Amino acid sequence: MSSEHHARHHAQVLVASNRGPVSYAVRDDGTLDAKRGGGGLVSGLSAIGPDTDALWVCAALTDGDREAVRRGVGEAGVRMLAIDAEVHADAYNGIANSVLWFVHHLLYQTPLEPAFGSEFRRQWAAYEAYNRAFAEALAAEAAPDAAVLVQDYHLALVPGMLRELRADLRIGHFSHTPWAPLDYFRMLPDDIAAQLLRGMLGADRLAFLTRRWADAFVGCVSGVLGPDALGATRIGVHGLGADADFLRERSRRDDVEERLVGLRSQIGTGPSGDVRKTIVRVDRTELSKNILRGLQAYRLLLESHPEWRERVVHLAFAYPSRQDLEIYRAYTAEVSRVASEINETFGTPGWTPVVLHVKDDFARSLAAYRLADVALVNPIRDGMNLVAKEVPVVSDEGCALVLSREAGAFEELGDDAVVVNPFDVSGTAAALHSALVMPSAERAERTKRLAAAATSLPPAQWFLDQLTELRG
Ligand code: G6P
Repeated sequence: MSSEHHARHHAQVLVASNRGPVSYAVRDDGTLDAKRGGGGLVSGLSAIGPDTDALWVCAALTDGDREAVRRGVGEAGVRMLAIDAEVHADAYNGIANSVLWFVHHLLYQTPLEPAFGSEFRRQWAAYEAYNRAFAEALAAEAAPDAAVLVQDYHLALVPGMLRELRADLRIGHFSHTPWAPLDYFRMLPDDIAAQLLRGMLGADRLAFLTRRWADAFVGCVSGVLGPDALGATRIGVHGLGADADFLRERSRRDDVEERLVGLRSQIGTGPSGDVRKTIVRVDRTELSKNILRGLQAYRLLLESHPEWRERVVHLAFAYPSRQDLEIYRAYTAEVSRVASEINETFGTPGWTPVVLHVKDDFARSLAAYRLADVALVNPIRDGMNLVAKEVPVVSDEGCALVLSREAGAFEELGDDAVVVNPFDVSGTAAALHSALVMPSAERAERTKRLAAAATSLPPAQWFLDQLTELRG
């Protein structure tokens, strides 16, 4: 069904997010190539069944997306909004990625930034316009009393705007990120901080990945707007889990087996002929993922425990993210530079200490999960971190998890992980060492418990619970 052919006011369940479930590219011959994404919302929406009229409202992000909107082609159940490209860039790169993401992940170098002046105000106006475009599309598409599930910091103003347009709707908002503590959140100009919170409070229910982020939000509301400002808005916590059935099946397919063979030959064997130990990390190259301190910790491990030289390999998969932003490009370059430096310092003809892959390859990520002896998940701050939950599910023989206490997943997985302060490089090196020497029986036991905790709330259930709560 093309987005132009939608009957108005029909959808009973609506999801709104910046990035949608499908993206288009224009092929050389002018035709459009559609790529479908995965994730919790995709499995959630498919779980509500064909009898419910569901609609996903998202932004056109690529030239192909815009072309698809122009031609009126598209997937059934998806409506892409062709928001003006400059407005979108200011809202997405300027506000969502460079301000809100930084605030919630505590990423500013405060002696230099942020400096909220006229450029910020200009971008904020774009953020408002972009949120308004979503609110208007949702208002036009929603059936009476429909449930609308708005996603993330990109769309923080949508609940309030939509409430003004359609008082009958049940509006939920879900934050997939952490929420900033009050003292940090207050760096935002006072009027903006208040507007953001009021925008969110337009929802009937606001949900977060952990209790910690939910509490931080409530703290910001009372600190910025006053003690009773929460009003009738309910707060919930839904800790998205890994999709065990999907992962177990997907990670046994032929393409993953092929990648296993390739990775094993890159890892190789140590001086005594034993297969080398492997420390795996898989991330998008996000500033919040702390890839550089992870490499520094590995370097320190090789310095302080020279017995590991030639006997361990660090497989680091750092996939491109948000490359429109200069600071992301610089960070990506620095990750490569530090990896090469470690290889130049320690490498030998038969041993490459860090194997860095930057091209996104899901099958290869799964292969790495299967063979990892140690998984390194050390974000500065992270809403949940699904890698920490996926590795134990897929691991062939058990994997020790080195986990940052600042990841949302820590709340559920902390007991069976080797826990680190992500800023403590020496502590992380020591954690890598204890993970590497963990006896295999203990590793296997812990992995079993980690996998059970990681899969306790599968994506479809995570989504349906939110819907039930919103309607209840
Ligand atoms: C991470 C966060 C999500 C966010 C997404 C946006 O996955 O956990 O909260 O929506 O990044 O990424 P994008 O590539 O669309 O900027």
